[in-house]
Amino acid sequence: MKVGIDLIEIARVQRVLSRHASFRERVFTDAERTYCDSRRNPAQHYAARFAGKEAIGKALGCGAEWRWREIEIAGRPKPGVRLSGWTQAWGERVGAGQIDLSMTHSRELAAAIAIVADKP
Ligand SMILES: CC(C)(COP(=O)(O)OP(=O)(O)OC[C@H]1O[C@@H](n2cnc3c(N)ncnc32)[C@H](O)[C@@H]1OP(=O)(O)O)[C@@H](O)C(=O)NCCC(=O)NCCS
Repeated sequence: MKVGIDLIEIARVQRVLSRHASFRERVFTDAERTYCDSRRNPAQHYAARFAGKEAIGKALGCGAEWRWREIEIAGRPKPGVRLSGWTQAWGERVGAGQIDLSMTHSRELAAAIAIVADKP
């Protein structure tokens, strides 16, 4: 089993969201954007998912940069994780099984922890 963790300042994500129009589409899938944009404070939820993708990338040992959308965090109440494309193939190569993700956010910070089980 492998673990990954990430912590991010929500204000940083808020700044990128308001300054770079392409950030939302480049990093987040349709399902992720629909959920975050439906909440009262979208940046909080975008930040948690950003931390979630980083945490999963760390646990998988491949990072998430440039392939953000290949890690989808969606569903309620506890969001699930779905890999696609190159990242999914990477997961299969390194024997990654089920991925469990837990996210949290306060007023200033968002954090996530991911656990990747070994393939049975
Ligand atoms: C789950 C719960 C404790 C979250 O507490 P909170 O202090 O409001 O919120 P946090 O900032 O710590 O965490 C929020 C994140 O928790 C996750 N979450 C929400 N409900 C969850 C659940 N039932 N199980 C796991 N994770 C959950 C979500 O990822 C959420 O972030 P998102 O809205 O961006 O997706 C709260 O929603 C609750 O009390 N729910 C009812 C009881 C419950 O389902 N408890 C957990 C199972 S026993």
